[in-house]
Amino acid sequence: MKKELAWPQFIQNLLIMVGSRHRSHLKRPTWIIALVFIVCFFLIAAYIYPLRSPSTCSFFNSESCGAGGTISPPPPVKTRELTDAEVESRVVINEILKYYPVQTKVPKVAFLFLTPGSLPFEKLWHMFFEGHEGKFSVYVHASKEKPVHISPYFEGRDIHSEPVAWGKVSMVEAERRLLANALLDPDNQHFVLLSESCIPVRRFDFVYNYLLLTSVSFIDSYVDPGPHGNGRYVEHMLPEVEKKDFRKGSQWFSMKRQHAIIVMADSLYFTKFKHHCRPNMEGNRNCYSDEHYLPTFFNMLDPGGIANWSVTYVDWSEGKWHPKSFRVHDINYQLMKKIAYIDESPHYTSDAKRTVVITPCEINGSKRSCYLFARKFYPETQVKLIQLFANSTIF
Ligand SMILES: *[C@@H]1O[C@H](CO)[C@@H](O)[C@H](O)[C@H]1NC(C)=O
Ligand SMILES: *[C@@H]1O[C@H](CO)[C@@H](O)[C@H](O)[C@H]1NC(C)=O
Ligand SMILES: *[C@@H]1O[C@H](CO)[C@@H](O)[C@H](O)[C@H]1NC(C)=O
Repeated sequence: MKKELAWPQFIQNLLIMVGSRHRSHLKRPTWIIALVFIVCFFLIAAYIYPLRSPSTCSFFNSESCGAGGTISPPPPVKTRELTDAEVESRVVINEILKYYPVQTKVPKVAFLFLTPGSLPFEKLWHMFFEGHEGKFSVYVHASKEKPVHISPYFEGRDIHSEPVAWGKVSMVEAERRLLANALLDPDNQHFVLLSESCIPVRRFDFVYNYLLLTSVSFIDSYVDPGPHGNGRYVEHMLPEVEKKDFRKGSQWFSMKRQHAIIVMADSLYFTKFKHHCRPNMEGNRNCYSDEHYLPTFFNMLDPGGIANWSVTYVDWSEGKWHPKSFRVHDINYQLMKKIAYIDESPHYTSDAKRTVVITPCEINGSKRSCYLFARKFYPETQVKLIQLFANSTIF
C-alpha cells in the first residue's frame, strides 16, 4: 500500500520536471534524465495498473477509460467510495438489467400523453392507430382539465392526474405516474412520452418495429457546457451526481420496460434532482429536472442502454427560448419528408460559441432515420396533416 501512496508524489515531481522545461533551458544531461524518468514512469504504470484489477481503466487500454485515454492529468489513485444508498441502488438496477427483456406474446407500445387537457391531434392519432388493435395502449395524463375524447382509442384512458407546473419537478412526477400506470400491463414493452403538440411522422408498423426491434431506450443525453446545461448544476448534488456526469436532453423520451422499472425503483437520484434541480434556486439559478434527471441518471447507470437521441423531432435552429412551432402554411409534403428522413441529430450548446454538435443516428454501427414523432405543431395544422397522412407514402 505504501507504494501506491508514494506514486502520485512521484508523478507530481515528474510533471514539475517536464513542466519546467520551457522555463529553464535544459542542458543535454538533464534531458536524458527526464527521458529516463518518463520511460520509468510508463514501465511502473504498466506494472501497477494491470495488477490492481482487470476491470479498472488500464493505462494502455484507452478504450475502457472514461477519460478518453489521455495521459494527463494522471488517473486518480482511488475512486470515490460509494454511499450505502448508492450501492443499494446499483444492486437493484443491475439485477433488473440482468433479467430483462422478458418476451410476451404480443408486445405492445404504450403511448403516454402528457397534456393540460384535450388533445388537438386526437383525430390524426386515431388514423395512426387504426387497424393495429392489440399492439398499442394509450394513457392520458391531463393536468388541467378533463379532456373531451373523440376517438375510442382514447376513451376511458385518462389516468389519475395532478397539476403540472412548467419546469418544475411535478412534470417528472407526472411522467412517473404515466409510466407506473402503463407498467401495470405486462404486455407494454416500450413506453413513449408525447405531448399534446406532438404528431406521428411515420406509420404505425414502422414505429412499432423501430421501437421493439432495438434493445435501447431513446433517451436524449449530451453535454452542454453552457449556462443552460452545466451552468444549472449545483454542488448540493454531490456526492451522488458529479458535474462530469451531469447531462442535458429532451424531455420527450421513449424507453424499454427495464428502464421504466428502474425509474420506478429510483428514489435516490430522483430525490436529489427534486431538491437541487428546480426553478428559482439560490443564486437566482434555474434548473429543470425534466431536461436533466433522466439524461443524467441513465448516462451514469446504463450508458450503453440509451441511444442518446430522442425519436421526437423538434426544431431548435432558430436559437430562441422555445422551439419553432409549425403553422398551417409550413405544412407540406416536403417538410414531412424532410423530418422523416433525417438521419443525424443536432445538439445545440448554450455557451457563447453556440456550437452545434451533429451526431449520426446510429445503432450498432448502422445508420437509421432518427425520428418517429415531431413537435411542436399548432392545432390548425391537423386538417392538412390528415390529408398528407391519408395520401402520401412518406409516413
Ligand atoms: C447490437 O448487436 C448485438 C449483437 O448482434 C445485439 O445483441 C444487440 O441487441 C444490438 N444492439 C442494439 C441496440 O440493437
Ligand atoms: C451514449 O453515450 C454514452 C456516453 O457518451 C456512451 O457510453 C454510449 O455508448 C452511447 N450509446 C450508444 C448506443 O451509442
Ligand atoms: C389526397 O390528395 C388529393 C389531391 O392532392 C386530394 O384531393 C384528396 O382530398 C386527398 N385525400 C384525402 C383523404 O385527404
